[in-house]
Amino acid sequence: MLIVANWKAYVQSPVKAKQLVASAKRLATHADTEIVLAAPAPYLGLLAPGNRSRVAFAAQDLSVSTGGAATGEITAALLSGLGVTYAILGHSERRALGETDEIVSEKVRHALANKITPIVCVGEKERDIDAKYLTTLRAQIAAVFSPLSQKERMQTVIAYEPIWAIGKTAAEAITPSDLSEMILYIRKVLGDYIPGKGVSKVRIIYGGSVEPSNARALASGTGIDGFLPGHSSVDSDMFTALVKAVR
Ligand code: PGA
Repeated sequence: MLIVANWKAYVQSPVKAKQLVASAKRLATHADTEIVLAAPAPYLGLLAPGNRSRVAFAAQDLSVSTGGAATGEITAALLSGLGVTYAILGHSERRALGETDEIVSEKVRHALANKITPIVCVGEKERDIDAKYLTTLRAQIAAVFSPLSQKERMQTVIAYEPIWAIGKTAAEAITPSDLSEMILYIRKVLGDYIPGKGVSKVRIIYGGSVEPSNARALASGTGIDGFLPGHSSVDSDMFTALVKAVR
């Protein structure tokens, strides 16, 4: 299982950040559970350099710029140089600020060019009875996968994050049976880009109100490869319980 803790902007003190890292390191003892901490950018500079632990670090975003005269931008090369190995790209909270599929696609290419594994967020705002949301999802995946090489496609992680399920409670998250269906659908779409058995190797994770109480049910038998918890990743007791529930 790949567990990516999306701290968003919840963690506002370096002391708290260091506590969360220490707690995650204590949890990272199982070889089959990879813990990745998506800390706000300034903390990455504090935490990622020289990191030799089993915990990895992710950026919550990176720049479309590759450097130069781009005030305030944080490039893939800069993050890579700090020891950051993953990046969450195209999160709905960034798409809400105007990030298009084209921008997400460009960021994915910058990440891959700098040895950063992209975690691409896709997901519908709401579910309509005509299932048009599946078309949205397909388009989001197509925009990112089309320009990539086979090798790059296999390296890319897909995070299915339906917007309607984000920032709620476990009771309002997706159900295990709906999640199973979505995983099948996403793998089918990925099959258009990755021929043969390779498609089963692409990691698909789920985010949207994953909490200790629903994590186990969402992990068992749905075909999911991991989770992207937000609010429950910034409380060390909750995060510990969540990780223990899925491994
Ligand atoms: P949530 O956030 O767990 O608080 O719903 C998930 C996300 O937005 O990545």
